[in-house]
Amino acid sequence: MTVTEVLRAENVTRELTGEVPVTLVKNASLSINRGEFVSIMGPSGSGKSSLLYLLGLLDMPTSGKIWLDGEEVTTLTERQIARVRLEKLGFVFQFHFLLVEFSVVDNVLLPMAKLGRLTDKEQRERAEALLVDLGMGDQLRKRPDQLSGGQRQRVAIARALANDPLIILADEPTGNLDSKASANVREILSELVHDRNKTVLAVTHDPEFARAGDRQIHIVDGRIENDELRPD
Ligand SMILES: Nc1ncnc2c1ncn2[C@@H]1O[C@H](COP(=O)(O)OP(=O)(O)O)[C@@H](O)[C@H]1O
Ligand SMILES: [Mg+2]
Repeated sequence: MTVTEVLRAENVTRELTGEVPVTLVKNASLSINRGEFVSIMGPSGSGKSSLLYLLGLLDMPTSGKIWLDGEEVTTLTERQIARVRLEKLGFVFQFHFLLVEFSVVDNVLLPMAKLGRLTDKEQRERAEALLVDLGMGDQLRKRPDQLSGGQRQRVAIARALANDPLIILADEPTGNLDSKASANVREILSELVHDRNKTVLAVTHDPEFARAGDRQIHIVDGRIENDELRPD
């Protein structure tokens, strides 16, 4: 299989200026290929989320460059970046951030509606198919607050997949789940990589999660201290 680089960072630094300047991420460089399952680990407060937000174009570096799918994104306007994010990235957070006033299926079709590539009928069909795939077929009309934590996270994954992203970025996706629901989310993400050639980049504290991945990046004090393939 050909190796395709989907994400590249070169000397990415994110500083906050203020009374007390803070460096969230220092000189991070990495290259991620399609089909990799990468775990980002490190102590609390080490900058894992900050790095993920930079790589997910939710935040911009103060210096350094980022390429996504071969395109340098650090030179784009905010509007262009929003479009790239919608088309190419999917996000799963520790807290699901589903819209509580919308049904499960409507939460999943919102990103498709925003992108506007599919007809209304196609959007609904795709949203339902994604949810059926994740074992949520009998919950389509429910509201998020009627679901368990694990079910909500599956809806969040379906939503992340809505626009068929190149990369799924997850920030402690199992951080709020019991062990059974965690195992389920881990398996779903792992299958996306191994059966569907998606790329997953996940911040996690869960050693089992990291073991399921192919590669571990360790962050200490905002720096990439270690970046290695899983030993086995
Ligand atoms: N907006 C902010 N203002 C000030 N400090 C911040 C801000 N965001 C994050 N930090 C600090 O930067 C460090 C890294 O945060 P974060 O990336 O959330 O770490 P992690 O996800 O590894 O726990 C922490 O010390 C945090 O308190
Ligand atoms: Mg964090």
